[in-house]
Amino acid sequence: MPDNSQVTELIDKFGRRVDYIRLSVTDRCDFRCVYCMTEDMTFLPRDQILSLEELYRVAKVFTELGVKKIRLTGGEPMVRSNVMSLIEKLGALPGLEELLLTTNGAQLEKYAIPLKAAGVNRINISIDSLDAERFKRISRVGKLDKVLAGIEAASAAGFERIRLNSVVMRGYNEDEVLDLADYAVEHDLDIAFIEEMPLGEASDHAREDTTCSNAWVREKIEEKYQLVDSAETTAGPARFAKIADHKSRIGFISPVTHNFCEDCNRVRVTVEGRLLLCLGNEHSVDLRAILRNPKNDDTVLKQALIDSMQIKPERHYFFDKDHAQPVRLMNMTGG
Ligand code: GTP
Ligand code: 5AD
Ligand code: SF4
Repeated sequence: MPDNSQVTELIDKFGRRVDYIRLSVTDRCDFRCVYCMTEDMTFLPRDQILSLEELYRVAKVFTELGVKKIRLTGGEPMVRSNVMSLIEKLGALPGLEELLLTTNGAQLEKYAIPLKAAGVNRINISIDSLDAERFKRISRVGKLDKVLAGIEAASAAGFERIRLNSVVMRGYNEDEVLDLADYAVEHDLDIAFIEEMPLGEASDHAREDTTCSNAWVREKIEEKYQLVDSAETTAGPARFAKIADHKSRIGFISPVTHNFCEDCNRVRVTVEGRLLLCLGNEHSVDLRAILRNPKNDDTVLKQALIDSMQIKPERHYFFDKDHAQPVRLMNMTGG
């Protein structure tokens, strides 16, 4: 076995450095958003998902390889039982500079204060409509007032740079772009508009019919606000613009119309322990098998992470008919 005791960072064969992991802590969710899930979902049985201890072990070994940023995803991270105990441990992990959360916001009234106390640095909250009926149509079961109360609780708990995430879909919410921007501006929040990605088959619509380009979304916003492009970044895929005299930043995440793969700095770990090297491809490594073999110590796990860099794909090919599209739904991947 090669001696990797000196290797302290993850670099793929295209020279990209991976220092950000998106750790999915559950495939379950209390919502059923139309772009993310089908109506009748079956979820993973308990013995197939990583325990909280296993998730922590994966996170720790990644930080020993130079990972500075961990974003917790799902499904909905806050529905995992006892998730706060994991978050508290991650908040104290040496070497980790940013612990982040992407959530549907429905439970933030209860958890905003403990999350802040545990050391979570920033929260992204998904919200696709400000109309209760419509919100329910898109999330199939979600309650808008719970999410709005969650956003307020996160602000009151002292979180800074809270970012809303809105997936804009033709026929569902494309006429609400300005209302969503207004809401963000009035509450001093950032907001990112996201192009819907063809991840798995959506059961209520054909993705080709609903996907809206961010160039169009931007034009809508510019009917009211003057946007000035900003070089500020969260080291994520969003490109930001500022609005004169306001604190809010408007972000655009445009994976369908603009490929940003050359700057990719991240990998994903699914709750089954599958290390996914790219959101738009199936290349993966089974970390669960490594974690559950009692002969393996952290050196073996570390070696697997280092080796995985050799199979990180160069880019995704969303909507390209010459390439197979991912069959995984987003709840399995964590966004
Ligand atoms: P920051 O870390 O704060 O920049 O957040 P983020 O935008 O990376 O995370 P978030 O969980 O809020 O994701 C917002 C959207 O960006 C989701 O739809 C994700 O699927 C998408 N996204 C995040 N990373 C990638 C990526 O590497 N490739 C693509 N195509 N989309 C991504
Ligand atoms: N395309 C784009 N964004 C998606 N999300 C979930 N499914 C999709 C999709 N198919 C978003 C959610 C959430 C983040 C984790 O990913 O709205 O903000
Ligand atoms: Fe749940 Fe988020 Fe998927 Fe909606 S997008 S069903 S809130 S995991």
